[in-house]
Amino acid sequence: MAGLTMLLGRGALSRLACELTGVGREDRVVDVGCGPGGAVRQAASRGARVTGVDPAPVMLGLARTLTRRPGVAWLEGTAEALPVPEGAATVLWSIATVHHWSDLDTGLAEAGRALAPGGRLLVAERRTRPGATGLASHGWTDEQAATFADLCLGAGFTDVQTERREAGRHRLWVVQAVKPGP
Ligand SMILES: C[S@@+](CC[C@H](N)C(=O)[O-])C[C@H]1O[C@@H](n2cnc3c(N)ncnc32)[C@H](O)[C@@H]1O
Repeated sequence: MAGLTMLLGRGALSRLACELTGVGREDRVVDVGCGPGGAVRQAASRGARVTGVDPAPVMLGLARTLTRRPGVAWLEGTAEALPVPEGAATVLWSIATVHHWSDLDTGLAEAGRALAPGGRLLVAERRTRPGATGLASHGWTDEQAATFADLCLGAGFTDVQTERREAGRHRLWVVQAVKPGP
């Protein structure tokens, strides 16, 4: 049921991730916390090879069922222990998922390991208010977005940008960064 509700109204999020990272045929994308895989399919429709990673077998099962495209792989794993080799990705994103990561430093170190030099990182989270509880807290306050951007710098990423964005009905924080090039 959670996976099905995650399919509703999320196309705008997937399109925004693709547009901001400029995903194309030459890219290898890793989607960390892919859920039912909407952003994976969106990137694959642009010709990229894409790996969706999620710890929940039920999400991966739904993602597989919904996906007919070639060039897509699904792997069970977490942000903190990505099941991909070093330098596997030219683009790595995590959409509405970082608030689930159990360890931001380890997740960012893994993102840095999985990205090739010059690779692009994008993270999107819903904008939330301080003190929100339950589902309303699933996202970032202004302070949490700023903290994540600082952690990106600390993890060695460059060109760190933090922006407010709208995508359909979603009001988002988007953090983008680059792994230093060769
Ligand atoms: C709100 S859903 C978002 C799914 C998808 N990115 C989307 O936007 O439709 C959050 C996803 O994060 C996954 N998740 C939870 N903990 C995680 C972790 N430590 N690392 C990676 N993914 C995680 C969940 O299984 C779930 O599929």
